[in-house]
Amino acid sequence: MMKVILDVDTGTDDAIAIMLALLSPELDVIGICSVNGNRGIEFTTENTLRVVEYLGAAQVPVHRGCVLPMVSTLSPGRRINIPYTGPEDPEDNVHGDYVDLPPATIKPAPGNAVSWLIDTLMESEGDITLVPVGPLTNIAMALRAEPAIAEKIKQIVLMGGGCREANITPSAEFNFWIDPEAAKIVFGSGCDITVVPLDATHAAAISIEDAKELRRMGTKASVMTADIIEHRWNGYKNWQPMDDINTVPVHDALAVCAVLNPQVLSPVVPVHADIDIGGGASDGQSIFDLDRRIKRAVPNVKVALGADRALFSKMLKEILGGNGS
Ligand code: BDR
Ligand code: CA
Repeated sequence: MMKVILDVDTGTDDAIAIMLALLSPELDVIGICSVNGNRGIEFTTENTLRVVEYLGAAQVPVHRGCVLPMVSTLSPGRRINIPYTGPEDPEDNVHGDYVDLPPATIKPAPGNAVSWLIDTLMESEGDITLVPVGPLTNIAMALRAEPAIAEKIKQIVLMGGGCREANITPSAEFNFWIDPEAAKIVFGSGCDITVVPLDATHAAAISIEDAKELRRMGTKASVMTADIIEHRWNGYKNWQPMDDINTVPVHDALAVCAVLNPQVLSPVVPVHADIDIGGGASDGQSIFDLDRRIKRAVPNVKVALGADRALFSKMLKEILGGNGS
């Protein structure tokens, strides 16, 4: 079994990512860290607990993580309304404040996710994969507090950024935009990093027909996933319609599937990547030097430029529909 730690800002697509990881027999989820992102930390932690409890996985610890991005809220005007503590933005039809599940009765583990990450990684045999699908604050804070964890991380498969796509400003993707400094620190860590950007998640957008099929499968996870996909589609079709209007991206789930089967991402290219932390119009933008403009730059990530939609859809159905949970 592959040991993984998820880092999430649950979040509807985060919820699907969590369910995939918990239900995959190949994965041993040793813990889940929450982080500020789609909503404030109380919301993302509660949502994470709800999903874990829903699947009867209370033995998997949930560690409450960072409340704020590293520095991006310090400059007046650079970031507003962070953390989001509700009430729900009436214009946000995609994420909602809470996932549509009963309040959690289980509690987060004591302490902070950053300390837990450091302790867990330092005590490990270098066999843990990190799957961050929210802003990279927890991972970057851990790297700052104990840089030696970089050599202990087997690989990082993260959702964030875009080569030719953006979704929060004309140039930036949400996770990196919330905490650009954190993303820059992670990119500079020397870890084995696979980036699952918007280019890949949009290429693998899931259809309303897929949602119907998941609903027919009738498991707790597949029905909830169908609900989420339909809910997201209702928001996306007006806010950011895909080329095929009947589809919607389920970003974070693709990162978990990429851990399970790297072939779901294609093509994947080694590249030098950086993040704009300048605070200007392209703040938080991911820059992938695909044409090798910087001659001496060494690739520091592998980036997925596309994805196999059919394989992704098949994996969702097999994992979420197959376990009867
Ligand atoms: C990312 O932003 C979040 O809103 C989603 O959960 C996903 O991780 C997509 O840009
Ligand atoms: Ca997320």
